[in-house]
Amino acid sequence: MAELKRVAVLISGRGSNLGALIAAARQPGYPAELALVLSNRADAAGLERAREAGIATAVVESRPFGRDRAGFEAAMQAKLDEAGIGLIALAGFMRVLTEGFVTRWAGRMLNIHPSILPAFPGLDTHARALAAGVRLHGCTVHFVTPGVDEGPVIAQAAVSVLPEDDEDALAARVLAQEHRIYPAALAWVASGAARLVDGRVVLKTTPAEGAFVNPLPAFAGLPRETA
Ligand code: GRF
Repeated sequence: MAELKRVAVLISGRGSNLGALIAAARQPGYPAELALVLSNRADAAGLERAREAGIATAVVESRPFGRDRAGFEAAMQAKLDEAGIGLIALAGFMRVLTEGFVTRWAGRMLNIHPSILPAFPGLDTHARALAAGVRLHGCTVHFVTPGVDEGPVIAQAAVSVLPEDDEDALAARVLAQEHRIYPAALAWVASGAARLVDGRVVLKTTPAEGAFVNPLPAFAGLPRETA
């Protein structure tokens, strides 16, 4: 089996999480190498980021495969094999993967999702969080399992939902946290510090209290009454 350290990042779009992973992987001692960026769209902006960083890229367009998801995945698998990939990081990859592909990569495929799972799986998470009136929202890195956005949690971060938030403002604060926890979670998995054991993630060391929370500032008095 290829070693975990050779990572493929799978993207479909702008690739800001890819950017965070690229920056982290440049740090001395980072335990993973981004060996391939694979996109299902030739126009994904993230491909340009990868090229600029000198990372090998590949495109397997999903559209021509239509409903033949297995055919699409076989073409991706060939690229992954060619590059000797041991670990996959989905980063804004907008295709649902088949059970066969997911099982093949069990414990070796991560995803980042913009909500605190199990709340708000699926799309439009920020709008749904605002509509639900939650006080905390955030992001999750999890191992991928056949159920969409259901896999065992590796890392999460929370942000406060503020009264003046709209979808964009909330999304931006969550995205900043995504860029923080994804490189950390990938490093844990690549180094063996986080492992999937019997459907749960076992960490070698306990994260510091508050490591994943960005709390409201300390109490600063009650809000003034509005006239
Ligand atoms: C992120 O919000 C991620 O959580 C979700 O898709 C978005 C991808 O953004 N899975 P980017 O392409 O990494 O900028």
